[in-house]
Amino acid sequence: MEISVEKKAQLEQSARDAARHSYSPYSGFPVGAAVLTGSGAIYAGCNVENVSLGLTLCAERNAVARAIGAGERRITAVAVYTPTPTPTPPCGACRQVLAEFAAEAVVICLCAGSTRRETTLKALLPEAFAANGDHGKQEDEETHG
Ligand code: THU
Repeated sequence: MEISVEKKAQLEQSARDAARHSYSPYSGFPVGAAVLTGSGAIYAGCNVENVSLGLTLCAERNAVARAIGAGERRITAVAVYTPTPTPTPPCGACRQVLAEFAAEAVVICLCAGSTRRETTLKALLPEAFAANGDHGKQEDEETHG
């Protein structure tokens, strides 16, 4: 699906803005993410760390949860911003969570420098886990082998 230049700019700005709300006192590594949904709405999230470090929530999963909680089901584009010299693509866990709703999505990775990386979720997570070989959709329950 073609995303308008304006929507893309809005999505990117949302990811940058979200990073400002990052709660990352333990790593000092703020992340902002934004997802564009099938309805055209944008939802953003930041990473939320915890003193029990393993409970940390990544920015991408925070943005996905906001979108899904608002009733959205399809994500067409994802932007991730880190205030680093080079772009940071989503971690493996976030890639798998994105695969549930954003299998066809474009992923834009932005940083403080001028470099940016534009790729797809499919390129970042080839052969995503899918219970029925179909990203967890249970339409073909008779396929077992
Ligand atoms: N983080 C994200 O928000 N997204 C990722 O895809 C990878 C890592 C966060 C988690 C933690 O707060 C900080 O970055 C350092 O790992």
